[in-house]
Amino acid sequence: MQDNAATLRALADARGFRIGAAVGHEPLIRDPRYREILAREFNVLVCENAMKCGPTRPARDRFEFAEADAIVAFAEEHGMAVRGHALVWHNMLPSWLEKARLSYDDAIDVVRGHIFTVMSHFRGKVYAWDVVNEGVADDGRWRDSLFLRTFGPDYMAMAFHWAHEADPEAQLFYNDYSADAVNPKSTAIYGIVRGLLKEGVPVHGVGLQMHLSLYDTPKWRALADNIARFNDLGLDVQITEMDVRTREPASPDDLREQARAYRDVMEACLSATRCSAFLVWGVTDRYSWIPEVFKGEGSGLLFDASGQAKPAYFALREALG
Ligand code: XIL
Repeated sequence: MQDNAATLRALADARGFRIGAAVGHEPLIRDPRYREILAREFNVLVCENAMKCGPTRPARDRFEFAEADAIVAFAEEHGMAVRGHALVWHNMLPSWLEKARLSYDDAIDVVRGHIFTVMSHFRGKVYAWDVVNEGVADDGRWRDSLFLRTFGPDYMAMAFHWAHEADPEAQLFYNDYSADAVNPKSTAIYGIVRGLLKEGVPVHGVGLQMHLSLYDTPKWRALADNIARFNDLGLDVQITEMDVRTREPASPDDLREQARAYRDVMEACLSATRCSAFLVWGVTDRYSWIPEVFKGEGSGLLFDASGQAKPAYFALREALG
């Protein structure tokens, strides 16, 4: 149903902005429509799962990059940039690592080795990395994780230093959810990254995931103020994983309201001093992670299950235009 107006990609290219989506390996190889939408609408991709620790490191001494390589090859073929996601994350760790009782030194070997191997494999192909993902709990305290338990709170600084050594050209991000507007969690993250910068740790940006519920969307002003305070530290901001879930089935009113939420976030990003990319967490509602995780909810993306553009798509196009 695409009309003749410019695509998101063309509009983003014209303003030197990155608009992107998370890509699943399965739909990419199976679904021609999915590939067609990706190539047409986006100029940056991120692997939804394929670069995570679990999928890339089935055993301590074995790395597996075939699926991520296929997604990166698709991006290269279509002249798209790639974001890397994610190096240090408490979730989706391989079971051998969850079970291992590593000494401090051994853990350094594993984590440092992981960052080096993965980043070296994609050097020159991945321009920005989520180095630490979801390191803060919802109450604003440091999230309990293998990394915090093993290294203490130094682990974030260590991870960023290692990442910078592994690929000095890459933009290094701290990435998290529910930190989109000014709130206790984003304030905790602000304090952490400010502290890291003071110590000379190479962190270049903050990723705001933006997994929103239609019934609890942040106000434009609170988003803009939050982005501004990270910019004031000299950091880039990127919207890294946006979706807006609704109860199923979504009504036409829901979809209009959803479009407004997308538009607010895009406008907050575009009006910031530095908010360089906007990525959605999936392409069509058909393959979205939402129904698996949030019972009875879905419809969070820009294209419906059959690949038709939704009001949210047109709202982003207007905002970019
Ligand atoms: C999700 C994927 O979409 C799912 O397919 C997977 O089962 C679990 O992870 N925050 C993140 C992403 O940083 O990596 C998560 O992705 C969604 C929440």
